[in-house]
Amino acid sequence: MDSFIIRGGNRLKGKIEVSGSKNSALPIMAACLMAQGKSTLHGVPRLSDIDSMSKLIGELGCHVYRHESPGRRDGDLPELNGPLDIESLDETKCEARYDIVKTMRASICVLGPLLAKRGKAIVSIPGGCAIGDRPVDLHVRGLKKLGAEFRTENGNIVGEVRGRLKGCVMYLGGAQGPTVLGTINVLCAATLAEGQTVLVGAACEPEVTDCAEMLIKMGAQITGHGTSEIRIQGVERLTGVEHRVIPDRIECGTYMIAAAITNGELEIKHCNLDHLIAVVDRLEEVGVRIERQNGTVFVSSSRRLNTVEMTTQPYPGFPTDLQAQLMALLCLGDGISVVTERVFPDRFLHVGELNRMGARVRKEGPTAVIQGVKELQGASVMASDLRASAALVLAGLVARGATRIDRVYHIDRGYEKIEKKLVAVGADIQRVKAN
Ligand code: EPZ
Repeated sequence: MDSFIIRGGNRLKGKIEVSGSKNSALPIMAACLMAQGKSTLHGVPRLSDIDSMSKLIGELGCHVYRHESPGRRDGDLPELNGPLDIESLDETKCEARYDIVKTMRASICVLGPLLAKRGKAIVSIPGGCAIGDRPVDLHVRGLKKLGAEFRTENGNIVGEVRGRLKGCVMYLGGAQGPTVLGTINVLCAATLAEGQTVLVGAACEPEVTDCAEMLIKMGAQITGHGTSEIRIQGVERLTGVEHRVIPDRIECGTYMIAAAITNGELEIKHCNLDHLIAVVDRLEEVGVRIERQNGTVFVSSSRRLNTVEMTTQPYPGFPTDLQAQLMALLCLGDGISVVTERVFPDRFLHVGELNRMGARVRKEGPTAVIQGVKELQGASVMASDLRASAALVLAGLVARGATRIDRVYHIDRGYEKIEKKLVAVGADIQRVKAN
């Protein structure tokens, strides 16, 4: 397992490019299971989670092919990756095995597409993970309302459809609010159902909208995506298309915080600040300067960081996927900040590791109280999940001395070439390969 050694203290300065969104690309790849003919996806990042989804849909009978990178493109930064072709060729396969599902919970995204197109799905039940208990009851409930029948068998969810799924009006929210991947699963399935489906309490995240936009290009009839009420008129078939996934708003937010925490100046390219309105709001309150010009954002910060109160919420609220990174910044705030986690109330594994670096964070239920300190110190810490690991990288960038982060495979799941991108703007990060 690789580690990072980060020597803190360098101000980051220069240009950094955001990759395509992992959380958009994963369900979009799964949705391609429903199309006839080839789809070509642009901007799909090279990440281990994308490799896992490629393997999964490959086992489900899709031909998946990554083109070579086209090299330089318009503007002055290179296109990172070549497009990804996906074509569903063998529709007899319906099983998502535990070996893959256990490495990537987003495997659940194949459930809706398989049921809608192939009439059967066997998907291993995803277990808990570092950010807490993550049930899939809402996915199953929504698909049941469309007429699928479910049973559990040897740790698998087995779903079957007699004939065709049937549209209906349904409420999809749960105790913690809407579900992102649950909305996408039911949305996908409803595109091929008979009649109209109305999803009330749907998630409004940009990743849901991106998937809906691709489905519309494929021939689906969808309105209201991006709001909490999505209407879908079922069609008989979907056909392969070309689609570019949206920029990764969480990666962008992470680099904005990297500029702020190092007192640096970054020009962040290929981002959509409209997807980050709550994040911009909180960062500006902390004292971070953010200016936008077309698709580029300029971020800089002064030494003094104000304190804030922040609660994570479904979109358009502050995203849970940036809670840990913001906390790393607030550790250096001038006073007490309060962070409450409403989406995954147990998502605080980074607290103990930040405290090992000299932070003063106290957890009280779903809330963390952060007493700002003058400096963080380098230490050996452990990456526990993707975003917690990103927070440790940010803390390491500003800490005095060296920070060693073990198990960085968590970061590789969701940040494309993170150390290369940060080194190019002045960070001192070395990847130590596992023996
Ligand atoms: C997506 O997960 C993202 N994953 C997560 O990003 C992100 O944190 C999350 O949305 C919230 O924004 C991908 O897109 C691949 P949810 P998802 O269903 O869809 C509860 C990252 O770091 N719930 O919106 O699985 C659930 O426990 C990852 O990139 C149920 O109760 O999250 C949570 O409290 C981590 N029953 C809340 O809903 C269900 O059936 C929201 O979860 C489903 C969810």
